[in-house]
Amino acid sequence: MKVIAFLGSPRENGNTELLLKETIRGIETFRLKVKTFNLNNMDITPCQNCGGCDESGECIIDDEMSEIYQNIRTADRIILASPIFFFSLSAQVKIIIDRCQCFWCEKYLLKRPIPESKYSRKGLLLLVGGMKKEIGVQCADSTAKAFFRTVSVPKHKTLSFLGVDAKGAILKHPTALKDAFEAGKELVST
Ligand SMILES: Cc1cc2nc3c(=O)[nH]c(=O)nc-3n(C[C@H](O)[C@H](O)[C@H](O)COP(=O)(O)O)c2cc1C
Repeated sequence: MKVIAFLGSPRENGNTELLLKETIRGIETFRLKVKTFNLNNMDITPCQNCGGCDESGECIIDDEMSEIYQNIRTADRIILASPIFFFSLSAQVKIIIDRCQCFWCEKYLLKRPIPESKYSRKGLLLLVGGMKKEIGVQCADSTAKAFFRTVSVPKHKTLSFLGVDAKGAILKHPTALKDAFEAGKELVST
């Protein structure tokens, strides 16, 4: 089973990264490896709405997104991990989502969705927000849902933690790390 993860926080060893590490630890109990993309360190241009993918389903921008396209196409499990920024996903995550417009064209215009894998593709969305406002989770989840469905991931689970703001504050949360560990196990157990 191929598992990939996108880390969308710019804060090294911040709450999102700590949470994602626990999820990965859970997955590793199944002797699986997770390929993680630290988006903040990648050179990825935002979508230019150039129409270059309309007829081919292929993006014409040549950058580090090429490796991500390949991995999204062949993954059985996809994890998006993001802090909530201005009631939504971080820009780091949003950039790769927008660049998946080529998958949208492939699926809906060219009628060539990414084929189902033998493990049934599944997703996991991990969110951390400093405020205690659900609207951030709702907005981020709507965008993540549009992404997952576009890349033919029919189901995803969302795990969110609010009121977690200072760097490392997630370590003091009563259940977050355990919840993330269990979510990792659950993601790959079926
Ligand atoms: C630019 C920016 C915007 C933010 N906007 C929100 C927000 O809309 N809602 C919220 O709950 N927290 C917001 N926060 C707080 C972060 O979500 C919070 O600090 C989180 O723990 C950061 O995770 P990290 O340590 O993985 O970077 C914002 C933080 C920044 C830097």
